[in-house]
Order: sequence, then C-alpha cells, then structure tokens
Amino acid sequence: MLKKMGRINQAVLIILYVLITVKAFEMEIIPASKIVVQIGEMLVLTCNTTGCASPSFSWRTQMDHPLGGTVNNYRTYSTLTMNPVSIENYNDYLCTAFCNEKGKKEKSIKVELYSFPSDPVIEISTSLVAGEPATVICKIPDVFPSDRLEVLLMKEGHTLHAKDFSEDDSRNKETKTVTYSFNPTTEDIGKEITCVAKLPIANMDFEPKERVTSLKLNANFGPQNTIITVSPSNFTVEGNPLKLTCVTESNPPAQVVWSKHLADGNIEHFIENNVLSIPHARFTDSGLYICEVINLVTNKTEKATVDIFIQAPPKNTTLSIFPSSVVKQGESVTISCTSADVPAVQITLRKKIGDVITTLETEDGKYTIDKAQLKDAGIYECISINKLGKQSQHIVLDVKVPPQNITVLVYPSENVKEGENVTITCSTYSNPPSQMVLKKVHQEREIILPSVNGTFTLYNVTKNDTGKYLLDVFNEVGNNIKVIEIAVIGKLEKRHQMMPLIIAFSCTTAIAIPVVAILIYVSRKAKINGSYSLVKALRLKV
Ligand SMILES: *[C@@H]1O[C@H](CO)[C@@H](O)[C@H](O)[C@H]1NC(C)=O
Ligand SMILES: *[C@@H]1O[C@H](CO)[C@@H](O)[C@H](O)[C@H]1NC(C)=O
Ligand SMILES: *[C@@H]1O[C@H](CO)[C@@H](O)[C@H](O)[C@H]1NC(C)=O
Ligand SMILES: *[C@@H]1O[C@H](CO)[C@@H](O)[C@H](O)[C@H]1NC(C)=O
Ligand SMILES: *[C@@H]1O[C@H](CO)[C@@H](O)[C@H](O)[C@H]1NC(C)=O
Ligand SMILES: *[C@@H]1O[C@H](CO)[C@@H](O)[C@H](O)[C@H]1NC(C)=O
Ligand SMILES: *[C@@H]1O[C@H](CO)[C@@H](O)[C@H](O)[C@H]1NC(C)=O
Ligand SMILES: *[C@@H]1O[C@H](CO)[C@@H](O)[C@H](O)[C@H]1NC(C)=O
Ligand SMILES: *[C@@H]1O[C@H](CO)[C@@H](O)[C@H](O)[C@H]1NC(C)=O
Repeated sequence: MLKKMGRINQAVLIILYVLITVKAFEMEIIPASKIVVQIGEMLVLTCNTTGCASPSFSWRTQMDHPLGGTVNNYRTYSTLTMNPVSIENYNDYLCTAFCNEKGKKEKSIKVELYSFPSDPVIEISTSLVAGEPATVICKIPDVFPSDRLEVLLMKEGHTLHAKDFSEDDSRNKETKTVTYSFNPTTEDIGKEITCVAKLPIANMDFEPKERVTSLKLNANFGPQNTIITVSPSNFTVEGNPLKLTCVTESNPPAQVVWSKHLADGNIEHFIENNVLSIPHARFTDSGLYICEVINLVTNKTEKATVDIFIQAPPKNTTLSIFPSSVVKQGESVTISCTSADVPAVQITLRKKIGDVITTLETEDGKYTIDKAQLKDAGIYECISINKLGKQSQHIVLDVKVPPQNITVLVYPSENVKEGENVTITCSTYSNPPSQMVLKKVHQEREIILPSVNGTFTLYNVTKNDTGKYLLDVFNEVGNNIKVIEIAVIGKLEKRHQMMPLIIAFSCTTAIAIPVVAILIYVSRKAKINGSYSLVKALRLKV
C-alpha cells in the first residue's frame, strides 16, 4: 500500500497512458443491477467487457438454480437470453468474466418478475333478467404476484365489492376471478359495471399497475306494462285513419303479433309490427284487437287489448216479411226490420196507409200480425238512424180477402110483372175486387147473364124468367154464392104501379149451404186440374 502510494505520480501517468493506449479490464452488466420484467416477455442480459482481448464468461444464479436461458458468448461479451421469461427466472444472476492476465470481474443483476398482461374481463352469468339473481364475474388473467392483487367491482362509481388476494401463496402467474351476485333491476339497465384490478407494488418499476374494464349492464326484462294506444281514438268515424300502437317495456325488444277477434269467433292475424295502421277505417274494422308481445330471451309474453268502435251511418238496413208480402186474411205475418250492428242506431218500424203513419212497437225489430186483416195491408217502412246518417227500406203488404158481406139489391123487386126490367146489383167486401157471374138455374141448360159494372139487368121479363138465379161472387182467394129467386107474375099494366122498392137480398142460408158445398167441391176438383172456372164448374153440376 505504502509502496503504491509512493508511486502515485507514476501511477497517474500510467493510468493516463492506459486510458489513451491500453484500457484496463472492465466489465458491466446490461441492463443495470436490477430489472423488472413481465413474465412471457424476452429478456437479454449482456455481460460486456472492455480491456481484455479474449475474456471467458460464466453465468450462474445466486442459489445455483438453473439459468432458465441461453448463453451466447462473443469475443468481448456474453448474453443470457430468456425467451420467454418464466417464473424460474426470478433470480439474482451473476456474471463472471475472466481475463487471463487481468484476473476476473464479477457482477450481479436482480431479475424481478411480474405479470399483469391484460385488462380484466367482465362476464355476466347467463343473460340478465330483471328481478332474477345474476352474477358478475371479473376475471384478471395471468397475474403475478397475485398476493398483491386488489380488485374492485363498482357500479357507477360506487363500490359493490372489493377483494384482495393477500392470502394467496403466489408461485406463478394465475388467473384470478372475483364473483359478485346481485338482483338487477330495470333501473340498472345501461349502468356501467367496472372492474378495477390493481397490482400496487411500489418498488417495482412497471406500468400499468392498474387495469380497468367497464361493461354496460344490459338486463333482459319484460315484456311488461304492455298497452295499446289508439290514435285518434277508439271511437272513430268511418273513413278516418286509425293507428294502433302497441307499447311495451322489454329488453331485448319484444316481437309483436297483432290479431283481431272476428264476429264468427275466429282470429285474424296481422303483420308483426308494433304499429297497426288503417288508412281508411271501415265499419268492419270495428272489433277487439289484441297485441301480443314476446321477449325471446326472457321467454315471456304479455297481451293488451282494445275495443275499436268505428262509427258509421246505418248499414244494411233490411226489411223482410214472412211468409210473404201477400197473405190471405187471417194468416199470420211477421215483419222484421234489421240493421248492421253499427253503434247508436235507432231502428223504427212504421206503417203507412195513405197519409196516416203509425209507429209500430217491435220486439227485436220484429212485428207480428197474428191474423192479418185488410186494414193491415199497406206500406211498412224500416228506418235506421244515427247521428251520421239514415237508411230506410219499405215493403208493401197485401192482404187478400175473399168476397164477404155480400149485399144483393134487386130492383124493383124480386116479384115483378112481365115486361118490366129487373136490375140486380151486388156489393161485396173483398181484396182484390171481386168478379161476379149471374146465371139462371135451369133443368136442361144454364144461362149466363152478362153484367155491366157489377150490375145485371133482365130486360122485358117474361114468365120464362121466373126461377132461381145464382150469383157467384169470386176473386183469386175465394168465392161466395148468393141465390136469388125471381118471380114474374102477371102483366105490367100501369107504369105508376112500379114502386121503386129495393130489397136487400141476402140469400137464405138454408139454400145457400148445399149449393156452396157443391160448388166448393167442384171448384176444388177444378183447381186440381190447374185452373178454375165457375162456368165450367156449374156445367159439371148442371
Ligand atoms: C461493450 O462496451 C463497449 C464500450 O462501452 C461498447 O462499444 C459496446 O457496444 C458494448 N458491447 C455490447 C454488446 O454492449
Ligand atoms: C319458453 O316457454 C315455453 C313454455 O312456457 C317452454 O316450452 C320453452 O321451453 C321456454 N323456452 C325457453 C328458451 O326457456
Ligand atoms: C274505448 O273507448 C271507450 C269510451 O270512449 C272506453 O270505455 C273504453 O274503455 C276504451 N278502451 C278500450 C280499451 O276498449
Ligand atoms: C252488409 O251486407 C253485405 C252484403 O250482404 C255484406 O257483405 C256486408 O258485410 C254487410 N255489412 C255489414 C256491416 O253487416
Ligand atoms: C161484414 O159483416 C160483419 C157482420 O156480419 C161486420 O161485423 C163487418 O163489419 C162487416 N165488414 C165490412 C167490411 O163491412
Ligand atoms: C126497359 O129498358 C128499356 C131499355 O132501357 C126501356 O126502353 C124500357 O122502357 C124499359 N121498360 C120499362 C117497363 O121500364
Ligand atoms: C162502368 O163504371 C165506370 C165507373 O164506375 C164507368 O166509367 C163506365 O162507364 C161504366 N160502364 C158502363 C158500360 O156503364
Ligand atoms: C117485350 O116483350 C113483349 C112480348 O114478349 C113484346 O111484345 C115487346 O115488344 C117487348 N118490348 C121490348 C121493349 O122488348
Ligand atoms: C118460354 O120458353 C119456352 C121454352 O123455352 C118457349 O117455347 C116460349 O116461347 C117462351 N116464351 C116466351 C114468352 O119467351
């Protein structure tokens, strides 16, 4: 030492010389004495010498663990390559360089490891359904050292759950998970769930030490609160546009199926769209509409209904008559007045005879006449009315009446003198008006007498005209026969004797019955043959 110090000036000169000409033997490790590496990356340690022409190198670890890398020696330096760096490289490495004439140099480097390669991964168990328990899982892949890991689960900045892993015995990188169960509500939809993973190792120089992942909550729910809105209103006038909208709360959006109950009990289906548009509502669009919504994820359905009433003027007003618009007196007739089931329609049935209008009392639009009379014949009118319009129909009822209440007048009398003129007139009550045939009953032949306007005149009577006369009064629905007996007695002498004596003649029933009976018999027979002729009928008899 003293010797050395004594030669100090000389040494300085030598050092200066060496610096300029021959360098001293030096060695360095690159990087410096400490390195922090992430597991999986590549690390090259270099042991570089100067001042030695051909040094030799040796690498080892502190505890003589395997090197876990490949050594490459070059002329003045040596490298130890760890590719990839693994947990066994967590060591102190020592490089020794030997230079024959200049001795050896030794340096160590501490290799520190960590692993925090990627952001956390948030997983949500199955599909979130509002109201049903769900689990959020935050996965932090390949962490080392995991005993330093801290994890926070937060919702909108508020901590739901925190966990550290200090209990861990961290020997290698591990994937860590944090699980949190909760009941999502519909308010949670769209909120952010954040997983913050921290590896707060202050004396290790690496970045980042915190990794964050966020996920928007997308809870599935519904359908719920399903309603149908109607624009402009569920009471709409025919011809206006109508828009039905099915509104529901559902995530994911629900599928919509529209249907309508038809009058016949069937159901009509429409396009799957939440808006059902009818540009020009028709009366027949009235009815019960159903909107059925389906959430394919929650597998739930919900229904809403709306009753649509399209207001329209009266429609399909019909007047019908049973059995027929032409009936025989005494038959029963039913008149029905109906109208399509349009809202607020008032139906009235009226009878019009001439100028007299009578409103009839109906039951379910039906009016029944038990025994039709001629007075029931006339015009029947059905009127449907509401504030949008009026419809009316009419029908004519005809009541056929066979001849009845027959009155026969014989002028001047049924007992007349020869040469007088005898006039027989007849009035009857029937519908349609009756026709009449007067004939004389004679043993060999019959004489049909002509009539003019319902009046029969026997001019200049003779005794031969004495006898029984049959007056047949008939129309298409029946007939009635009257018997008149005329007696021609003596001769007309003085005109003044002729008294205008009119006798109302109603035939004695005692005579009438058999004759009528025969005639009905004959006429029935004749009718079977297809036509009816009184003349013929009488001929058959006489
Ligand atoms: C070794 O050190 C010298 C001098 O500082 C330098 O020029 C050279 O590039 C180094 N070699 C390696 C492999 O680092
Ligand atoms: C949905 O519900 C129906 C009947 O309720 C059932 O048959 C079906 O399996 C369910 N589907 C799912 C995916 O849950
Ligand atoms: C339709 O309108 C009437 C009155 O305007 C109302 O009573 C009825 O409830 C409405 N809605 C439905 C769903 O039918
Ligand atoms: C009216 O009658 C017609 C023809 O008979 C029919 O097609 C239509 O559906 C009816 N309308 C209503 C509103 O009943
Ligand atoms: C027909 O005669 C009956 C009585 O015989 C009477 O009650 C009725 O009013 C008469 N009818 C007519 C239309 O004159
Ligand atoms: C009978 O009628 C004829 C023709 O109208 C008439 O000329 C005659 O004078 C009438 N006889 C009597 C007795 O009235
Ligand atoms: C029959 O009566 C009608 C009206 O009552 C009358 O116009 C017509 O002239 C009459 N005919 C005869 C031939 O008398
Ligand atoms: C009436 O009859 C008598 C005899 O039968 C005859 O002499 C007379 O001319 C007739 N008169 C008329 C108006 O026919
Ligand atoms: C009365 O009738 C008979 C037989 O038909 C006939 O021979 C006679 O001439 C008639 N007498 C008169 C006045 O017409």
